[in-house]
Amino acid sequence: MPIRALAAFHDFHPKPENFHDAVVEGLSKPRKTLPCKFFYDAEGSRLFEQICALDEYYPTRTDLALLETHAGEIAELVGSGCHLVEFGSGASVKVRVLLGALDAPRSYVPIDISRDHLIGAAAGLAREFPGLPVVAVCADYTQAMDFPDLGEGPRVGFFPGSTIGNFTPDEATAFLDQAHGWLLGGGLVIGVDLRKDADTLHAAYNDTAGVTAAFNKNLLARCNRELDSAFDLDAFRHEAVYVSDKGRVEMHLVSTRDQLVPVGEHTFAFSDGETIHTENSYKYTVEGFCDMARRTGFRPIRTWTDPEDLFSVHYLAAA
Ligand code: AVJ
Repeated sequence: MPIRALAAFHDFHPKPENFHDAVVEGLSKPRKTLPCKFFYDAEGSRLFEQICALDEYYPTRTDLALLETHAGEIAELVGSGCHLVEFGSGASVKVRVLLGALDAPRSYVPIDISRDHLIGAAAGLAREFPGLPVVAVCADYTQAMDFPDLGEGPRVGFFPGSTIGNFTPDEATAFLDQAHGWLLGGGLVIGVDLRKDADTLHAAYNDTAGVTAAFNKNLLARCNRELDSAFDLDAFRHEAVYVSDKGRVEMHLVSTRDQLVPVGEHTFAFSDGETIHTENSYKYTVEGFCDMARRTGFRPIRTWTDPEDLFSVHYLAAA
């Protein structure tokens, strides 16, 4: 019973994701879409891990290197005795770097919508950091919630990997706004991918080994596994393009012929070249991101970037 390794478990009973309804809704739109949060079933999570290890995919290793290189300085800015609050699955090595550097953290508080992942990751962390209370929170952190009382000490958020890039600027602002309220008196350590030349971005989302293509197409494979659908995976191709005026990489699945696809009691018509928009990955300038953070009440204290200016890590104070 790994749950007994936890100091506390707060379950906000987030509404379970309804894949079927999301697919029907997204494919019924004049411009078809599928929400990117559904990428991460077991197979999609495995493919994402593979993406993170690709030569072309710079974000993961650059984010981690920035955290490792500047862990001491980050820890100094964060100060001693904080509650470290991680938004999203805490299975990664990144939070271990931060926890290892922090001075006397009072607790580690992973927040995740997936109860099973959350409990597994939280229990693993608790075993690795004996003496560190792990307070797991099962919740959808994009929704309003009464943040659990953690007792004395500032709360410092951790949101690595440019996960914020999946949000539209409006959604990102709403997230920062809510996080600011939760973290008042503390701060936020956040990883943000940077705008750069289109070739580097194109390579990162169109790797030669085809892992990102498989990751994207897994959405259709997942439909076939979990819903009563019959997508022909050979009749769709992966496309990722940098739309520079919007500052985002868009991923699409492009129908390579006119076709009808049954999904349960529905049938969706695709014309040759029609796309399903599956993901946005927003890129920021340092100034653009800091401005957005300021508009939500955060005070940008420090930004760290790598020598090539590929990626950024920020410490924002929630004054
Ligand atoms: C997990 C959202 C940061 O946008 O780069 C990787 C997901 N998509 N390759 C990103 C992703 C295609 C990734 N994030």
